[in-house]
Amino acid sequence: MNDKQLVTQALAAVLDGALNETALANLLETPKQSEMGDLAFPAFSLAKTLRKAPQVIAAEIAERLSTVGFEKVVAVGPYVNFFLDKAATTTAVLSDILRQGSDYGTVAQTGENIAIDLSSPNIAKPFSIGHLRSTVIGDALAKIYQKIGYHPIKINHLGDWGKQFGMLIVAYQKYGDEAAVRQNPISELLKLYVRINAEAETDPTIDEAARDWFLKLETGDPEALALWQWFRDESLVEFDRIYTELGVEFDSMNGEAFYNDKMAEIIDILEAKHLLTLSEGATVVELEGFEHPALIKKSDGATLYITRDLAAALYRKRTYKFVKSLYVVGQEQSGHFKQLKAVLEKMDYDWSDDIEHVPFGLVTRAGKKLSTRKGNVILLEPTIHEAISRAQAQIDAKNPDLPNKAAVAHAVGVGAIKFYDLKNERLNGYDFNLEDMVSFEGETGPYVQYAHARIQSILRKADFQPAEVAGLDLSLKDAESWEIIKLLQTFSEFVARAARTFEPSVIAKYVINLAQAFNKYYAHTRILDDNADRPARLALSYATGVVLKESLRLLGVEAPSEM
Ligand code: ARG
Repeated sequence: MNDKQLVTQALAAVLDGALNETALANLLETPKQSEMGDLAFPAFSLAKTLRKAPQVIAAEIAERLSTVGFEKVVAVGPYVNFFLDKAATTTAVLSDILRQGSDYGTVAQTGENIAIDLSSPNIAKPFSIGHLRSTVIGDALAKIYQKIGYHPIKINHLGDWGKQFGMLIVAYQKYGDEAAVRQNPISELLKLYVRINAEAETDPTIDEAARDWFLKLETGDPEALALWQWFRDESLVEFDRIYTELGVEFDSMNGEAFYNDKMAEIIDILEAKHLLTLSEGATVVELEGFEHPALIKKSDGATLYITRDLAAALYRKRTYKFVKSLYVVGQEQSGHFKQLKAVLEKMDYDWSDDIEHVPFGLVTRAGKKLSTRKGNVILLEPTIHEAISRAQAQIDAKNPDLPNKAAVAHAVGVGAIKFYDLKNERLNGYDFNLEDMVSFEGETGPYVQYAHARIQSILRKADFQPAEVAGLDLSLKDAESWEIIKLLQTFSEFVARAARTFEPSVIAKYVINLAQAFNKYYAHTRILDDNADRPARLALSYATGVVLKESLRLLGVEAPSEM
């Protein structure tokens, strides 16, 4: 039982149903100063029902309430302040973590599936920083949901279909050089794409030819398909290198093209439900409250992004029987996902409510928007390598004799980029600054990793074995250890909140607080000194290490045991 439950139950017992336990739990506050107790209950909302002044109610509650589990319970004005029994709580929390290790806070499997659409870069284009955000946020959400008992299915909805492939084929046939594409697939294809688009501005026949080629692709023309397959394969080789660096894997790589043969059914369903109308030659679904209808089929019969997303949504529901289907995609696509949900609703799918766009904000550099056209781009692979070499330089300076330095530098460099992304509330964009990311000071990944490594080094020196302290009295009384215990005790609440709000930043902020609390403790306490408290101090260090590492794992960040 955690503190909140302890307080809620004690309150419920004296209030005779004046408020239910959920309502009570929601009213509880954490006092700003710890001298005011660990939790406080404001009595205002009871004044009306009980027809008494809040101060009187608070005093009565404090008097009648059972103090089992509390050091004391006192009324201060309209508040009832609860002081937890530190010794008992500390022993209980530490024992739990010693026993459960990284399973601490894990919820038993419910067997329910949650589909997560993440990463989803576009073939033949560079992997953008937006796709990095989607990859990192989506991967963290998958881990967080798994921790609370769901089965995540990570789907990389590759952008591998659409008229742009018609453009690319036209460009390749005009100017393409096979060897150059083989050598540098994405940058070469991008060059072709940019060149043909510029040309199309003055030459309308290019657009026509592109449309023709895309239609050929949609109808299975072998020449078109062979080229498309080749562009796709080459691009995936590059993307896979990035995924390997990031340590991210997918359960499905079914991109837009996968739905090519599944769109006829969507059109049939829409037709049977009389949802399709013609508008300027195109087939659309009219949507109330939207500026534009949903464009399902162009006048030449070609399908669109949303058509493929409709097919994908239905396929996912049938295949995975999801209880929730997330789309981790930039905020700029909000309109698209609103339309997607609205069309599914019109199709009478009650599960359209379970479709959830998880948007995120833009990344800038030096305060400026990134733009491929203006040359303000962040190329991901070189950036990752740069982060790793900066991490390596810091490790060389701090700990030149560290074994397996390269692996640690990799964990720190990649972790730094991920952590920086995740600590920002996802709707807030951020400025991409490698130096800040890789710094060992401040609210960074390396800072948290370092706190974890420091703990492991203490534990190594003490040759600490969790089994040796199990069953001992682990109570500690100092203020610094109490701050840590309160954080450790509420770990699962933070995980649940991160899941509920689709916000890995909740865990990133939590783990920063935990690392800071430990560093403060470390500055005040000589953990290794021979002293009656030594076993409890080591247990506290160990438990903090477990939760730091597990929190980082939920964010997709490694925790080296030495750095
Ligand atoms: N490929 C798209 C883009 O880069 C993102 C796809 C997101 N997923 C989806 N099901 N629409 O903009």
